[in-house]
Amino acid sequence: LPKLFIFDLDGVITDTAEFHFLAWQKLAEKIGVSIDREFNEQLKGISRMESLERIIALDPSLSLSDEEKESLATDKNEYYKQLIESIGSENTLPGIEELLKDIKASNVQIALGSASKNAQMVLDKLGLTTYFDYVVDAAKVAKGKPDPETFTTAADALGISYENCIGVEDAAAGVQAINGANMFSVGVGSEEYLANANYIVSDTLKLDFNQIIKEYTVWKK
Ligand code: G6P
Ligand code: MG
Repeated sequence: LPKLFIFDLDGVITDTAEFHFLAWQKLAEKIGVSIDREFNEQLKGISRMESLERIIALDPSLSLSDEEKESLATDKNEYYKQLIESIGSENTLPGIEELLKDIKASNVQIALGSASKNAQMVLDKLGLTTYFDYVVDAAKVAKGKPDPETFTTAADALGISYENCIGVEDAAAGVQAINGANMFSVGVGSEEYLANANYIVSDTLKLDFNQIIKEYTVWKK
């Protein structure tokens, strides 16, 4: 068995990836830029400031001061916080809590590996905090995804070697981070974006504990 599962939050445990998108869309509109879901794929897993930079870069005529950028990032976070205000346990994606239970029942540890400053709050709202042995959020890492630091920080904190870890991600940048840490990567979503994952499932309902362990065991050999 592996010793640790490290889960991304937004888009894996809950559909807050959609709320991040809606909040960025509203913010982009405000500065006269339009973004679609395809562009949004490259914002998934990326920090708030870096996401803003990528949106600003869509219009080369935009020139914003650091202060203006800070203020726009704050606006986006306010939009986002409004959207997640009323989420609760019903917003945990299908199959996730069962998977967390199966992992715990096998005495394997669980960590969160999120780039979000709102991660702990979201986990609390979902009522899932007690499943997690360790939480890595934006405050704990210097280099965000696709750098492996988010995932290695969780493993290091729990004293587990990387090849005994499984990372679960919905973002291309996240899969790259897991692979870069030499951990087994599970991608949740479309092959189009997650082709580099060691194992891909189309949605969270297909995240079956025994199947993941089988794939992991083959990979480890
Ligand atoms: C996650 C999401 C991104 C989001 C980032 C920062 O990685 O996938 O869409 O931009 O966290 O979230 P925050 O809540 O700190 O703005
Ligand atoms: Mg995600």
